[in-house]
Amino acid sequence: MQAQVKVHNSLEEISRAAADLLLRCAEKAIAARGQFTLALSGGSTPKKLFETLSSEPWVSKFPWRSSHLFWGDERFVPLDDPESNYGMTRAALLEKVPLPEGQVHPLALGSATVEEAARLYENELASVFNITANDINSASKGNFPRFDMVLLGVGGDGHTASLFPGSEALNEAKRWALAVEAPEIYPTRERVSLTLPLLNSGRCIVFLAAGSGKKPVLDKIFNDPAQAEKIYPAARIKPRDGELFWLIDAEAVP
Ligand code: 6PG
Repeated sequence: MQAQVKVHNSLEEISRAAADLLLRCAEKAIAARGQFTLALSGGSTPKKLFETLSSEPWVSKFPWRSSHLFWGDERFVPLDDPESNYGMTRAALLEKVPLPEGQVHPLALGSATVEEAARLYENELASVFNITANDINSASKGNFPRFDMVLLGVGGDGHTASLFPGSEALNEAKRWALAVEAPEIYPTRERVSLTLPLLNSGRCIVFLAAGSGKKPVLDKIFNDPAQAEKIYPAARIKPRDGELFWLIDAEAVP
């Protein structure tokens, strides 16, 4: 499936377009399967989208009560830590929308270790996606949970979620979530990330990218994909059976 690249004039416009795409995807998922499952990205870019979703007309139209929110990655910090992706989402979105608490699935909640957080998250995914415990990580049966939508960002180094260039986690073929370590330049190195096979099981994967800092990475990904795949984890996001969108602004256009 060829990626669909949509260029917008601003992050505000990207966020409105992403909110519309989310709404369409949610309505389609609920009509087909009775629920909408979404994996959120972290970092700073999606904050505007979350604020958009918690404002009219989206906040009234969105099927919150039939939706389940997960995170594609999380820093292994307390949920009220400024580095927490959940914390940012709670302030920008969760506190403003009628999403049942049992349908919000933060990563790393109260785990003693980052490895335990990854395992617990796999169990949480299995329960929402109705996959039995002994089938977790049984890639042989192709038992990867399929998110209706996966939101992703891309770092200036080409990482996505918390899958960083050169990481062993990029070779994972069975696990759904892994304890990973970010490079030294990042303030929080201990993280949990969903894996490539799980992310690529998504029915609709949407990258949001804004700003000139993303331009070199997008240039490689769009114009030299074979080389990009060798160096950038974001270039290895290719839905097995789904759609891929890049919503970018004019500054990020290669
Ligand atoms: C994280 C994110 C990460 C993010 C990129 C882009 O936890 O840091 O999930 O993958 O999407 O780093 O971050 P910005 O949106 O801040 O540029």
